[in-house]
Amino acid sequence: MSRLVVVSNRVPLPEKGAQAGGLATALQPLLEREGGVWFGWSGTIAAKAAEQPARISHAGRVTYATIDLTRAEHDGYYANFANGVLWPLLHSLPEMMRFDRSDAETYFETNARFADRLLPLLQDEDLVWVHDYHFLPLPALLRARGVTNPVGFFLHIPFPSPEILALAPPAGKLITALLQADVIGFQTISDLGNFAAAATTFAGARQIGAELLEIDGRRVRLGVFPAEIDAPDFAAAALRAARSPTVERLRRSLGGQSLILGVDRLDPTKGLVQRLAGYRRFLETETSWHRRVVFLQIAPVSRQDVASYQALRAELSQLAGEINSECGDPDWTPLRLITRGGPRTTLAGYMRAARIGLVTPLRDGMNLVAKEYVAAQDPEDPGVLILSRFAGAARQLDAALLVNPNDPDAIAEAIARALAMDHRERQTRWRAMWQAIVENSPLDWGFGFLRALQQGGGKRSAHAAPAITPRAKPSLPVHTPSNAIN
Ligand code: G6P
Repeated sequence: MSRLVVVSNRVPLPEKGAQAGGLATALQPLLEREGGVWFGWSGTIAAKAAEQPARISHAGRVTYATIDLTRAEHDGYYANFANGVLWPLLHSLPEMMRFDRSDAETYFETNARFADRLLPLLQDEDLVWVHDYHFLPLPALLRARGVTNPVGFFLHIPFPSPEILALAPPAGKLITALLQADVIGFQTISDLGNFAAAATTFAGARQIGAELLEIDGRRVRLGVFPAEIDAPDFAAAALRAARSPTVERLRRSLGGQSLILGVDRLDPTKGLVQRLAGYRRFLETETSWHRRVVFLQIAPVSRQDVASYQALRAELSQLAGEINSECGDPDWTPLRLITRGGPRTTLAGYMRAARIGLVTPLRDGMNLVAKEYVAAQDPEDPGVLILSRFAGAARQLDAALLVNPNDPDAIAEAIARALAMDHRERQTRWRAMWQAIVENSPLDWGFGFLRALQQGGGKRSAHAAPAITPRAKPSLPVHTPSNAIN
C-alpha cells in the first residue's frame, strides 16, 4: 500500500481544535480513513526558525508533522504574499493585491524550508499530495531535492485568466515550478482552462489533450475534482441539531419570523458588503416584509493580520449598525451580525431553521457552505438557496436562485422571490440540488484525485506506486469539527 502524504499550510492538529476553511473540511475524512501523514504549519509563530525536524504527533491513523514559522516568514509568506497577493489574484480581485518583492522572496524561501523539513519524512512508496496556493513552488522544490515520488497538487480556490495572473511579477516562475507536479487538480473546468492557458503562455507548456500538457518532454495531467461534502451525514447532523437547546433558542428568538442565513469566513471574496447592501435594498423596497424576516450573518473573523481583512471587519460592523438603526424599529432588529463561528452541528441546525441560505461570494473555488445548506434542509419543507453564479458550486447547484453578487438589486429581488416561493417550487428546486450532491462524498473526491495521481502523467515517477485502493463507502463516525466554514 502506498502511504498518503498530504501537505497543506493549515493542519487541523487535534489539540488545536478544528480549523475554518473548505480545505480541512474536504481532506479530514480521507486522512482519518486512509491514514497517512499530514504536513504543514503548526499555527505557531516561533521566535526563530527551528533547525529541528518537524514536530510529530499521532491521532488515530494520522501522523501530524508540523513546523513553526518565524514572524518574518509568517508575514512575508503567509499574510503578505499568499493572502495579500495570491488570494486576491486567484479570485480575480486584482485591486485588492498588495505586492512587495521581498514578500515574494520570503514566500519562495519559506516553501524551500517546508521542502527541507518534509524530505526526511518521505518514503519511497509515498504519494505526495500538495494543497493550495501557499505551496505553488513546492513541486519543483521537492524535485530539486531528488524526490521522484508521484506529486499531485490540488487548488481549492479559483484560477484566473492569464492576464490577471500576469499582474503578480513572479507569475511565470510560480507556474513553471507548479508544473513539476504529475497531476494538477481544480474545482471547475474553467479553472482548468485558465491554468492550461497560463501554462502555455508563461511556461512554454504545450497542450496535447483537453487535460494533458507537455513540458520538457514530460506530461502533466490536469483534472477537475469538485470538492464534496458527505450530504447524508450532514443532513443527519442537521436533523439532530434542530432539536438541540441552542437551535431551539434561536428559533424562539425569531418569534415566527423567517430566517435568512449567511455563514462565511469574514473575507473580502465572500461579497459580504454587497450582500448587506442587497439586504438593505430589500428592506427599503419590500416594506411589507418588515418585522417578518431576520437576517443572521455568521462571519467568523479570519486573517486579522492582513490589513484588508481588518478594514472589512470595521466596514461590516458599521454597515450592520446603519442597517439596524435606519431600517429597524424599536421592537425589531432586522440584522444580526456575529463574528464568531460555532460547532458545525449547531450551524447545521441553524441552516435547517433558515428559510433562505444566502451564499453570495464574489468568486469562490467551490463553497461547501452552499452544499451544506442544501443537505441541512427538511425535504418536506425545504428552504431556498440564493447562490452566487461565481461560486464553483453553482455548476452543480444550478437549481438555486443564481445571482450576480455585485448587484444589490439582484440580491434584493432574489430574497423577495425566495420568501414568496410556493412549496412546490421550493421542493422541486431542492430535490434537483440534493440529487446533485447526494451521490458524492469527500472520500470519492479524494480517491478520484489519488487514482489520477497513481495513473500519473510524469516520467519523473520513476516507480509506479502500488495502489491505494478505494474501499467501499465506510460508515464513518459523524465527523463534526467546529468552524468548518469556507
Ligand atoms: C480556504 C483556503 C484554505 C485555507 C482556509 C482558511 O479554505 O482554501 O487553504 O486554509 O481558507 O484560511 P486560513 O488563512 O485561516 O488558513
